[in-house]
Amino acid sequence: MSPTPPPVDTTIDGLRARLDAERSAGRTVALVPTMGSLHEGHLALVDRAAALADVVVVSIFVNPLQFGPTEDFDRYPRDLTADLAALTGHGAAAVFAPTVAEMYPRGPIETRVSAGEVGTMLDGASRPGHFDGMLTVVAKLLLIAAPHVAVFGEKDAQQVFLVQRMVADLDVPTRIEVVPTVRAADGLALSSRNAYLSGSERAAALALPRSLEAARAAADAGDGLPAALEAALAVLDAEPQLELDYIAVVDPASFQPAEPDHVGPARALVAARVGTTRLIDTALLQLR
Ligand code: PAF
Repeated sequence: MSPTPPPVDTTIDGLRARLDAERSAGRTVALVPTMGSLHEGHLALVDRAAALADVVVVSIFVNPLQFGPTEDFDRYPRDLTADLAALTGHGAAAVFAPTVAEMYPRGPIETRVSAGEVGTMLDGASRPGHFDGMLTVVAKLLLIAAPHVAVFGEKDAQQVFLVQRMVADLDVPTRIEVVPTVRAADGLALSSRNAYLSGSERAAALALPRSLEAARAAADAGDGLPAALEAALAVLDAEPQLELDYIAVVDPASFQPAEPDHVGPARALVAARVGTTRLIDTALLQLR
């Protein structure tokens, strides 16, 4: 594997020319869409992509469309040099790092993909328009790169559900691959936003994975959904530095709230603010 950083394409035409040449030579393409600030979680996506396709492209683009007016678009960490160093040795053939003007040359975009009702629930309720903005840029990236496969992280479970549904609804010929969440040794799900946390905030943030572990333990004990939710809430309520946004359990097939007597796989989702940082986490439960 090459010890040098991958080449960077900053234009749509440049990336298309590169990938057209690869496809003409019979090679398959995988896309890993990211907003940069790459950590081990992203690198796990890149490694999976490299196992699935001949050519891996990592897009790095902080998409203004998916940030609300009071959100962290301006302060979102951006360091292309560090990202290229992180990618070295991970089998990425190219990085696509366009400017906002390259992606949205006509200014605020008029045509958007609607994430529908599921896009207004949970994270969509707290972040109005977020999922429409996310799906719009993912659609653009899929049209630009035309990958055989695109790789996403399980941590953003609602995003994954919506991308899978968009690809199915719009007959996009790209397979969506999902990679399990990568966690730090203390259990915190890796996220670019963890960089915002102070020492004590990071300790408080551990209530998120612990709440999911409590829910999983209750589910595994056969206690049912209400008890699993109660166990998770008890952990979250005990952490004074944490401002809970939601804890929910959904049916993974529909992303609608699971019924209290739900049996089988169910996805637990939690979102909370620690200081000024909003974090999310998720776990798959098996309810009996
Ligand atoms: O998960 C992310 O980093 C972003 O939502 C994505 C998929 C790159 C779209 O901007």
